[in-house]
Amino acid sequence: MTDFAMDAPAFIRPAAPWPRRRTPSLLTALRLLRDNPITAFAAVAYDAPSLEIGRGRKRVTLVNDPADIEQVLVRNAERYAKSDQQQRRLKPALKDGLLTAEGDEWRSARRVAAPLFSPRAIAALSSDMRFAADAMARRWLERADDTPLDLSAEFQRLTYEIVSRTVFSGALDEDRVRIHASMAIYFDTLGRIDVASVLGLPKWWPSLSAVRARPSLRVFRGVVDRVVRERSAAPGREAADLLDRLMRAPDPVTGRTLPTHAVADNVLTFLSAGHETTGNALAWILYLLALFPEAEARIREELEGLSGATPDREAIERLTFSRAVVNEAMRLYPPAPFIGREALEADELSGQRIARGDEVVISPWIVHRRRALWDEPDQFRPERFLPGAPEIPRGAFIPFGLGPRICIGQGFALQEILIVLARILPAFRFTLAAPEKVFPQARITLQPAGLWMTVRPT
Ligand code: HEM
Repeated sequence: MTDFAMDAPAFIRPAAPWPRRRTPSLLTALRLLRDNPITAFAAVAYDAPSLEIGRGRKRVTLVNDPADIEQVLVRNAERYAKSDQQQRRLKPALKDGLLTAEGDEWRSARRVAAPLFSPRAIAALSSDMRFAADAMARRWLERADDTPLDLSAEFQRLTYEIVSRTVFSGALDEDRVRIHASMAIYFDTLGRIDVASVLGLPKWWPSLSAVRARPSLRVFRGVVDRVVRERSAAPGREAADLLDRLMRAPDPVTGRTLPTHAVADNVLTFLSAGHETTGNALAWILYLLALFPEAEARIREELEGLSGATPDREAIERLTFSRAVVNEAMRLYPPAPFIGREALEADELSGQRIARGDEVVISPWIVHRRRALWDEPDQFRPERFLPGAPEIPRGAFIPFGLGPRICIGQGFALQEILIVLARILPAFRFTLAAPEKVFPQARITLQPAGLWMTVRPT
């Protein structure tokens, strides 16, 4: 164990809403859910093993107990589908991509995509990751002044650059930029909680955000469909990127390759699921390191030990403290703060009946801050994740979900984060411009609002 906890200033509470004393009224709750859902929860939500949080046309239960979480996401996973709340927001864009598909379509796409995210396949992407991190570092070095940067925007740009290069290296830069710009507008518009779904209104209910988001959806869908079509018309190409592999790899069970529309859906899914989450994780890590200089000094020392080399698989294994910081940052600020399911058949969780059609919300945001599971849950303590620390129950730490639908990009994201940190932490000093303005803002992902930092070369 480390003495880091003793050195850390105990009075610093990284930005987070205080749990409300009482459960808000329905109208207030709806407003809070739309503005920033993590501010809607009362203290009881952080304490209870489960809690009914909605009863419109369907019952909504917040599931907080690690064993129940395992039951929903792993043991009884086939009794649950993705929730209406998630599908209303994502399905129009991602259609039958891995994140939103169900049943045979999902199973087939997962089998085809799995080898593309194997440890070996991911290791082969490290030079692309390093290349993009170098480009960002050069941009920072070439700045004429050191006015604060919006770090969240910087990392969104970087992680999009990385995932889009690995997905379709050959596509025109101009196309990749257009997709990013329109996708950002789409998810910004549709990222808020869908009140129609909270109230259990029928699926055909017209949502204003969905109508507003349609033009940007047409742009990025149009570009991706065209790029995929062009690629299908050029079968002689050497497999150079994820798109090529996705188009050619046969499903090991059926022997069939994915249909063109499913390839496009999955390309879009990798682009969208693969950058905002990782960008937010990086931004939160930099925020926490700026608040806790002892941790920053220690992680920098560990990364300087790489002497500028790009960390490979073995090196990543050895970066124990860096990985502990990444985990602790994702505990405090899980990039995907809510995981939703809908019961396809009845189930029973810790004696509580879940009826068919009920919605279950599993919130990494809440579970990672439950008083019963974590000592001083609002504090930044990387040593929780160091070797020798008390074991963390499965289901208590779930930044990437769990079970068959666990994030396929987990290894990709971890490698990417460590490569970027290894490039920038030894080379720059980061200072918060206005620490009091930083606040977690939950949309589909958990964004750091107000994260402006001065970035100076060391
Ligand atoms: C720190 C970064 C990331 C976090 C925290 C994260 C989180 C998650 C979570 C919680 C899920 C499960 C959702 C559920 O069960 O409903 C998920 C699924 C998924 N993620 Fe990630 N993700 C990250 C990075 C990535 C990357 C880099 C990619 C791809 C390049 C990716 C692609 C996907 C896909 C395709 C799924 C759906 C998997 C399936 O249902 O089979 N993610 N992610």
